Amino acid sequence: MKEQIEKYTTEIQQTIISNAEELENFRLKFLSRKGIVNDLFEAFKAMPPEEKKVFGKVMNEFKNIAESKFNEAKDALESADEGAGLDFDFTLPGTPFNTGSRHPVSLVLKEINDIFQRIGFTIAKGPEIEDDWHNFTSLNFPLEHPARDMQDTFFIHKDAEDPTKDLALRTHTSSVQIRLMENNQPPLRSIMPGRVFRNEAISARSHCIFHQVEGLYVDENVSFADLKQTLYYFVQEMFGVGTEVRFRPSYFPFTEPSAEMDIQCKNCGGKGCNICKYSGWVEILGCGMVDPNVLENCGIDSNKYTGFAFGVGIERLAMNKYKIKDIRMFFENDVRLLSQFNSELN
Ligand code: PHE
Repeated sequence: MKEQIEKYTTEIQQTIISNAEELENFRLKFLSRKGIVNDLFEAFKAMPPEEKKVFGKVMNEFKNIAESKFNEAKDALESADEGAGLDFDFTLPGTPFNTGSRHPVSLVLKEINDIFQRIGFTIAKGPEIEDDWHNFTSLNFPLEHPARDMQDTFFIHKDAEDPTKDLALRTHTSSVQIRLMENNQPPLRSIMPGRVFRNEAISARSHCIFHQVEGLYVDENVSFADLKQTLYYFVQEMFGVGTEVRFRPSYFPFTEPSAEMDIQCKNCGGKGCNICKYSGWVEILGCGMVDPNVLENCGIDSNKYTGFAFGVGIERLAMNKYKIKDIRMFFENDVRLLSQFNSELN
């Protein structure tokens, strides 16, 4: 029996297990219920007690050798299997992933910037926190002027002693026009895109944060005809050739005369629908000839120079262009809306 065990031990040590089949054969031969280890233990049970004493230790050692051979071979095969996973086909198409897209507000902003840059307008930027002078006083809103109420301002600092020291989130990017005129002499031809803030009740039509592009053109002999033609060109580029526009008289403290411009409703083609409130027209911007006082406030000679200015609400325009019915959707970051602009990566 002793020799037999030694013979099996050598056999086990010399066995090479290199695949699952060989592993299973080894298990069947040595470790299964009818295997050699079990057979030897059956024989061991039948031994007289004095022989058991001698063989007990040898038997256990033999069993351990067989089991550890099996476990080591099994582990080795399993880790070889993991390695096999690396052996994949590099020519297969990759897993697709979403690249994201420009936000509709950015798309419209970019389109407006492009259109005006084509006709020689540069882009000017300014701070979102403004002082009283740049947001109001220089633009012909004297202190206590009722038109200040039109702007629903978020104040950051209210100075009890000196209201000219007030600080606010800018209510329009007209403040950037002032900064531009203070630092440069005509001819000036710029647009001012940016974020603006108004303390308004949030609804489907208005939000407390939105985006504007304002424009300013100051030179000798600039007239209302230049304003009309420039804005007409803008609308043809933005909404398609043949889009009709109309001007209505309006009021802004910083322009005289002032107007609001409407375009034919894109939703119904001018027939009347709930978007244009059945008028066939949608208001898209405010405009006018820069008030001479504003030019003088910035150190520009109003006898020599004239200019026009306009301001467009971007969300309004995007709502009209993409038929989005609720302005709040622009700020919710809902991928169901945003992913619809995937193809417009221009
Ligand atoms: N600043 C005006 C607004 O926010 C828009 C505007 C700009 C009107 C320039 C006329 C001229 O409503």
